[in-house]
Amino acid sequence: MTGSLLITGGAGFIGQNLVHRLVARHATLPIVVVDALTYSANLTSLLPLIDTGRITFIEADITDGDRMERALAENGVDRIAHLAAESHVDRSIADPDAFFRTNIEGTYALLKAAHAYWGGDPRRTRRFLHVSTDEVFGDLTDDEPPFTEDTPYRPSSPYSASKAASDHLARAFERTYGLPVTVTNCSNNYGPFQHPEKLIPLTIINALRGVTLPVYGDGRNIRDWLFVEDHCAGLEAALFRGEGGRTYCIGGGTEQRNLDVVNLICDTIDRIFCKSSELAKRWPDCPAARGASCRDLISFVTDRPGHDHRYAIDSSRIARELGVIPAESFASGMERTISWYVANSDWWNRALNADFSEWMKQQYAERSAAESAA
Ligand code: NAD
Ligand code: TYD
Repeated sequence: MTGSLLITGGAGFIGQNLVHRLVARHATLPIVVVDALTYSANLTSLLPLIDTGRITFIEADITDGDRMERALAENGVDRIAHLAAESHVDRSIADPDAFFRTNIEGTYALLKAAHAYWGGDPRRTRRFLHVSTDEVFGDLTDDEPPFTEDTPYRPSSPYSASKAASDHLARAFERTYGLPVTVTNCSNNYGPFQHPEKLIPLTIINALRGVTLPVYGDGRNIRDWLFVEDHCAGLEAALFRGEGGRTYCIGGGTEQRNLDVVNLICDTIDRIFCKSSELAKRWPDCPAARGASCRDLISFVTDRPGHDHRYAIDSSRIARELGVIPAESFASGMERTISWYVANSDWWNRALNADFSEWMKQQYAERSAAESAA
């Protein structure tokens, strides 16, 4: 009998993509999603899966260790994909408290719960996949080689420091208690369901609405962009085929300067508006609607404090050992992403609304009430 998979943060950007991938590819795998439904969550794409009983949703905070242990025991959980986190660097600079609470205390509570529930049972199917970031390694100069699994930690922001602490905790539980932990460190993701506060969705949405496109500093900072479905393919491989006690770096191999990313989005939107008069009617404030360029909206703004210059990942271990290689190029991934945001303005309009989180909780509460009444 297959044990369940529990995904924390399953209502977030990467979490939703992972849930959809695993539901599509593992027909009989029971999946449980735990999420506190913070501002960055979006349950709407998961509601049909909840309604049909394909997944079980638990609204809970990972810092609640007793609740986590109960969730593991009640659902017979054999595998955990731990994605729940506070994830936005700018928010961590403005107010780090939630980052230390969720990312450090929450990870600790979940590790303790898994250890308590699994005990010393060495069953091979058990796995605690701790999903982390390349930001724990600090940043690179233009000439340094990409990060590998052996790069020393040197985090710069409260976000990356909190993720670094959680990585250390996860590895300590593996070494000290034999918890079957695998860690992944991934580069910047982009694609469907990403919250509008991150660079790529923010640029697409602001361009469509004719709002300023803020570029921090001189726009020469470099990120290694990975299409979210390719990240999820790596997570699936690490979860089912990765080794306990092993770390896998996952990157897109597509280093881009921020300004080049913003220019590409502007040029793509200009081009698609040229081909469709319907888009100009939907977004009359977009410069492309009047034949101008979205690049006119670019504004260089004060740099982020402590802004990391460059991230780049050497993904050769996961390619060699687990056969994981990104399917999307940056150009094809960006086409898909821009098309998704153009087609899903209902989704991001709700996410832009400050009351979004409350609205979503209400949707879920109404459905749960209807279910109990039935
Ligand atoms: P996200 O902010 O979109 O989603 C995070 C999810 O976690 C949300 O649904 C939120 O409600 C939930 N959450 C937050 N605090 C919680 C708590 N205390 N209890 C339960 N749930 C809580 O983030 P994301 O971009 O999907 O990132 C997912 C994971 O991947 C994170 O651990 C992040 O550090 C890591 N990561 C992200 C990227 C990226 O580019 N987005 C890159 C590498 C690694
Ligand atoms: P972001 O999407 O916040 O991811 P991270 O900080 O985790 O890399 O930002 C990506 C890059 O884009 C980063 O170098 C900061 C920059 N940036 C801007 O220039 N303008 C913006 O409005 C945002 C949100 C980010």
